[in-house]
Amino acid sequence: MAKIGSDIIEAATILRAGGLVAIPTETVYGLAGNAFDENAVLSIFKAKDRPSFDPLIVHIKNQQALTQLVKDIPAHLQTMIDDLWPGPLTILLDKRANVSDLITSGLTRVAVRIPRHAITESLLHSLEFPIAAPSANPFGYISPTTARHVQDQLGDKVDYILDGGPADVGIESTIIGIENEKIVIYRLGGTSLETLSQYGEVTTSLNNSSNPQAPGMLKSHYAPSKPMLVGNIEELVEKHGNKTLGIISFSKLYTNVAKCEVLSERGNLDEAARQMFGALRRLDQENIDLILTEPFPNTGVGRAINDRFQRAAVR
Ligand code: TXA
Ligand code: MG
Repeated sequence: MAKIGSDIIEAATILRAGGLVAIPTETVYGLAGNAFDENAVLSIFKAKDRPSFDPLIVHIKNQQALTQLVKDIPAHLQTMIDDLWPGPLTILLDKRANVSDLITSGLTRVAVRIPRHAITESLLHSLEFPIAAPSANPFGYISPTTARHVQDQLGDKVDYILDGGPADVGIESTIIGIENEKIVIYRLGGTSLETLSQYGEVTTSLNNSSNPQAPGMLKSHYAPSKPMLVGNIEELVEKHGNKTLGIISFSKLYTNVAKCEVLSERGNLDEAARQMFGALRRLDQENIDLILTEPFPNTGVGRAINDRFQRAAVR
């Protein structure tokens, strides 16, 4: 089992020595290593059992740190970056030669973001290097939103878990790039399409193939080990009445099944996003046969919630 604590100096010492530390961010917990240490980067892939074709996000302390990693910041992105960083937004930018091909899986762009979490900000400021960090879960499984989630699954693979409490956003960062001067969303996440639209024309390119722009966006991802269906809950309950059912609902409590997780009684999408991965994990551990959920309002972070549930439901 890994040590869990809030000792930034201990975490920094481990990272300097090439070890792995789980870090809290506003989105989900990350599995961090020194981005400029190829052995540390390799051990991240190994700990997660992650295929080498799925590149890593590099986390930096401030915009100045970008100059170590990328060739330049397109001028028209400056206002957006000033407004939205630190925050749940990852941007793909042309990488410099010193960024390892291991991090980018050989791609020409590197994914970067400044996370918004006091502990991780302090950690980054105490380090001389940026940190590479995918979500701290075994490849393909549900992302962790608490230190305990990391301990449960990667406790024997990580040297230290920095406990920053439950994640505030609860869903991964939105990933964007620029194509023909337009903002392209490759992964929906904690920064909404509506917010991004304030900075220019936005299109989405949510790939599903085995060689997409954001290779981690595989059709089946963020998945519990139990089967899951998305649809009209009442109809699904009727159709699958012979099975032991668990439900994840937006705001309504269902008492006619074995287990029901309500993500936001008051019907608030941000609260639902914060609760969703924890609820999915709890149901995955329950003695049920099938998890049912429903389409959420397709606005704001609701789009990202729908995206995750759809991928979780693919077998
Ligand atoms: O909120 C988040 O983004 C969290 C926290 C820890 O920062 N991180 C996270 O990392 O979700 P991960 O590795 O689970 O998902 C990163 C996604 C993957 O789908 C990966 O394929 C994509 O980002 N990605 C990373 N680098 C890329 C690159 N150079 N080009 C295209 N896609 C990239
Ligand atoms: Mg992930």
